[in-house]
Amino acid sequence: MNLKQMAGEKAAEYVKDGMVVGLGTGSTVYYTIVKLGEMVKDGLEIMGIPTSLETERIAKEVGITLTTLEEHPVIDLTIDGADEIDPNMNLIKGGGGALLREKIVAFASKREIIVADERKLVNSLGERFYLPVEVIPFSEAVVTRRLKEMGLNPETRVKEGNRFITDNGNIIIDCHTGPIENPVELEKELNMMPGVVENGLFIGLADMAIVATQNGIKEIKGF
Ligand code: A5P
Repeated sequence: MNLKQMAGEKAAEYVKDGMVVGLGTGSTVYYTIVKLGEMVKDGLEIMGIPTSLETERIAKEVGITLTTLEEHPVIDLTIDGADEIDPNMNLIKGGGGALLREKIVAFASKREIIVADERKLVNSLGERFYLPVEVIPFSEAVVTRRLKEMGLNPETRVKEGNRFITDNGNIIIDCHTGPIENPVELEKELNMMPGVVENGLFIGLADMAIVATQNGIKEIKGF
C-alpha cells in the first residue's frame, strides 16, 4: 500500500453514521472517498459535499449520496489533502486548482482532517510548493503586476496550452514565493486585492493531520 493510500484510508475511520462529510480533492483523499464508498455499501449512512467537479464525479461513481451547502451549511467533518503543512497546522492548498471550494467547505466544517504523506510537512509554507491564487480573468494583468511588485514571482497556470480554468470559471496565478515569513498577513493582503477571489493559504482551518510515513501513520495536531 502506498503512503497516500495509507493516510487516505485511515481518515475514513473518523466518519460515522449520519454525518455530513466534506469531500476534499486530490490524489490522497481519493483513497478516503473510495474507502467511504465501500463503507456505504456495507451500510454506512452519510451525505457528502464535494469540493470539486472531479470529486463529485468520483463520489457518485462509488455510491456516496451527495448534498449541498444550501441544504447543509454546517458540515460535521471534512477530509482533504494539502500541498504543504507547517508546524502550526497552517496549509498551502490548491495544487489541483480546487482551493476556493475547499476553503469554503473547510470554513463550513466543525472539524477538518488533512490526509498527506510525510513529504508534505515543511518548516515554513512556500518552502517547496508554490502558492496558488484564484483570480477573476478580467483582473489577470493588474493582479499579476501587483504580485510581481510584492516579489511573489507570479505565473499564470497553464493546462494543455491554455490558461487553466477552475470549476468557478476563474484562472489561477501560482506564486513562487519561497518560505513565507508571515502567512497570516499574506493571506489577508492577497484577499484584499480586487480581482483575487481566494488564495491557497489555509490558516487555522485544519484540526488534525493524518500523515503516512515510512514508519507508519502519525496523527498530528502540530509538530
Ligand atoms: C486541490 O486543489 C488541492 O488543494 C489538494 O488538496 C492538494 O493539492 C493535495 O493533493 P494531493 O493529495 O494529490 O497531493
